[in-house]
Amino acid sequence: MELCFPKEFIWGVATASYQIEGAYNEDGRGESIWDRFSKTPGNTLNNDTGDVACDHYHRYQEDIELIKSLGVDAYRFSIAWPRIFPNGYGKPNLKGLDFYKRVIEELHKHKLIPFATLYHWDLPQALQDKGGWANRDTAKYFSDYAYYLFNQLGASVSNWITHNEPWCAANLGYGNGHHAPGIKDKKQAVQAGHHLLYSHGLAVQAYRAAGLWGQIGITLNLSPKYPAAAEEEDIQAALRADALDNRWFLDPILIGEYPEVIWEIYSKHGLEPQIQADDLKIMSTPIDFLGINYYTRSIIASDHNNMFGFKHYPGKNEVTEMGWEIYPQGLYDLLIRLKNDYNNIPLYITENGACFKDRLINCRVNDQQRKDYLKQHFTAACKALSEQVPLKGYFVWSLMDNFEWAFGYERRFGIVYIDYPTQQRFLKDSAKWYRDFLNSKRS
Ligand code: FCB
Repeated sequence: MELCFPKEFIWGVATASYQIEGAYNEDGRGESIWDRFSKTPGNTLNNDTGDVACDHYHRYQEDIELIKSLGVDAYRFSIAWPRIFPNGYGKPNLKGLDFYKRVIEELHKHKLIPFATLYHWDLPQALQDKGGWANRDTAKYFSDYAYYLFNQLGASVSNWITHNEPWCAANLGYGNGHHAPGIKDKKQAVQAGHHLLYSHGLAVQAYRAAGLWGQIGITLNLSPKYPAAAEEEDIQAALRADALDNRWFLDPILIGEYPEVIWEIYSKHGLEPQIQADDLKIMSTPIDFLGINYYTRSIIASDHNNMFGFKHYPGKNEVTEMGWEIYPQGLYDLLIRLKNDYNNIPLYITENGACFKDRLINCRVNDQQRKDYLKQHFTAACKALSEQVPLKGYFVWSLMDNFEWAFGYERRFGIVYIDYPTQQRFLKDSAKWYRDFLNSKRS
């Protein structure tokens, strides 16, 4: 397997600000929608919040040393908008900016390549008070925030990701309310999705306007859809599911149009987004790469009791602690499909990993299942690479256990175990396996 990854292939680990930083009220950080949401009882498992999380804000040096010890090339992290603009816009908070400057400096010191995500879901609450992503103005505030960071950090960060998983930000945040801001309104969800994509386009334009030499892209959560049976009805249902969850985000960015089949269904129910004349042109401003977060696949059957005419079927294979079916072939299929349908756009896997019930025994976590999961998915990526898929890098989710959104601290995705009461870090067996895998490639 080692052989198929080219020398310049970028290996990394990934995290996100609200999930690891803690220090929720330090150095002028403003409130985010996740502070508000997680502090509202009943929204997260055990009412967990990100107040302390992995205390990364105070331990970033130790954590970056840990990253280095794994032998990876790169680190994907996100910037908390409310640290930079506590109210979403206006006067920047220099202490917040300074934190990221120090993180980036530390990364460079260890010869690690920073991949910075601008938005991994922690919207300033002040902007939510004005409607959040359902309000078009938020897109403009986002691109101003982005432009400020490009100017401040663009010389030392050469890989930027505008958004992480706008599907989740829109549908979980505004549709079913499982995520912050906890709104349950389908119309707002569709509109929020549109504004997220529009803000992405504005940010890419801001990046080009800043005259920087690096690369910018977006990260989407993509899950290939397979028909439950080889029958026309199920095949059509799977195509609709694909258009709803995958192409609704891929096509505007990479082709400049929304999939018609879903637009029609939305219109029939008065749910289509309000868009302005140049929106799709702006949304499809060329990007340098597409980031993919892949965890599982979906199996789809036709179901006419449902607005979109499909339902999900359970998979046939082993599942992780999230209940997600383990299906490495889906990653291969997805990579091949993206290459074919989207004109060879350079790809990064910006997240892939798994949640299992980890137990720390004598300072050791024997997470054989996670090791197997990673190995199988690396193999799938390798197979795609050997078929000329322009895959440039691979980031494991996650560097360490963290605040898994509505599931709080109970769900562990790290290759590093966090003992929350002491904040001690322990390399799980999967981390050691990853380290050895990277070492063997280089020797
Ligand atoms: C993705 C998120 C990431 C993490 C993983 C498990 O949807 O981007 O923050 O929660 O799932």
